[in-house]
Amino acid sequence: MTDAVDHDLKVKHTKDEASRQNFVAGMRGYVLNDLSGHMKTVWDRKVEPAFEKANGRAPSDGPEIHKTIKSETIFKFYSAMRCNTQEMVWRSVMPAVEREGRDLSRRAQVLSQAGDKAQGTVETNPNFEVPRYVSELDVHMMPGNYHEERIDYDVTQGAVFDNGLAVFSFGLLGDRMEDITDSVSTFYQAHYPDSKPKKILDLGCTLGHSTLPWKARYPDAEVHGVDVGGPCVRYAHARAQSYGVDAHFHQMDAEHTDFEDESFDIVYSCMFLHEVPLKNIKGVFKEAHRLLKPGGVMLHYELPPNTMTSPYDGFYLDWDSYYNKEPFYKAFRDADAKAEIEDAGFEKDSFFEHVAPSRNLYGHDALMEAAQQDGAKNDSRVGRFGDGVMWYFFGARK
Ligand SMILES: C[S@@+](CC[C@H](N)C(=O)[O-])C[C@H]1O[C@@H](n2cnc3c(N)ncnc32)[C@H](O)[C@@H]1O
Repeated sequence: MTDAVDHDLKVKHTKDEASRQNFVAGMRGYVLNDLSGHMKTVWDRKVEPAFEKANGRAPSDGPEIHKTIKSETIFKFYSAMRCNTQEMVWRSVMPAVEREGRDLSRRAQVLSQAGDKAQGTVETNPNFEVPRYVSELDVHMMPGNYHEERIDYDVTQGAVFDNGLAVFSFGLLGDRMEDITDSVSTFYQAHYPDSKPKKILDLGCTLGHSTLPWKARYPDAEVHGVDVGGPCVRYAHARAQSYGVDAHFHQMDAEHTDFEDESFDIVYSCMFLHEVPLKNIKGVFKEAHRLLKPGGVMLHYELPPNTMTSPYDGFYLDWDSYYNKEPFYKAFRDADAKAEIEDAGFEKDSFFEHVAPSRNLYGHDALMEAAQQDGAKNDSRVGRFGDGVMWYFFGARK
């Protein structure tokens, strides 16, 4: 399962560890595809009809469905299985990462200094203050989160995330686990052929899975990623060097970066906003507006908003907010992104949203066909991590 980690920071898992990872990945596939399907059947055939009979109406939103289904055995079983497999993801990869922690740090430094492979840069800040909403939480139950550091030039949390993501995504994210931004950036390029960005910024870049595809789309552009996690940006740069991709990584807060006004053509993020409290998302949008050149574009890959999903899909997607240590997830999905971007200085009319089919699952032609269309259509596959997933993104032009 960790074969998707195919660069020079790869760690060696024992056979027992590898089979444990395969088991966890398979179990997650079962929970997210099969068990979630059983839960929907129970909802459709038993719980919703009983609700309608008792109330004379259908449940109005996700929270009402959550409240109604909570006592059902299938919901408890699904939730217990998801929580357990989530914890097992990290536990299955941590032993190898811990064994190789010091060597990983040495390898990362060698790669980062190997200017013959690529010419990117990395900068961390020893006085950097990690925002409390990151430092106080093991988000999605990942021990140590994105920022914890124990040794010199620590990249451990980067390695935990990278290897864990390989197990977590059970093959859905394709080569290098870059499918989301690979698909979104390919869609963007095809849909907006006149866009010729010279400078691109990825906010909350973690290990660069969402940064490097931009360099593949626009090889002449200067590509930057920022993250609050020191281990993440070190790992991201070493990973990029290993792949021979020029990219620049910085330990910075996306709300208060050190970049100059009007210096970027695209400010992007991927799976970032739903991990940020709404008041800080407002700050991120304002910062993106400050950083964009006139005519520049802000883009965010994210979970679809609750206004776009059916009440059941809203309940299903918001599960993480209650049970997976993702406390800001639901508030983000409930927010009115159009109003927020206007507050941040963008023209309301410049708001756009799209759904990109995963290139890994549906192929290049399906992605190109979708890129000819405008707008984002409601579809239960959008944002639902399982077979057939489609990627939602929204943005605005300055
Ligand atoms: C789910 S991860 C993003 C994944 C990544 N973009 C990808 O596609 O693989 C969220 C990231 O946001 C970072 N983060 C959280 N708050 C931040 C902030 N204010 N500024 C910069 N990065 C932040 C976290 O450290 C974490 O690495």
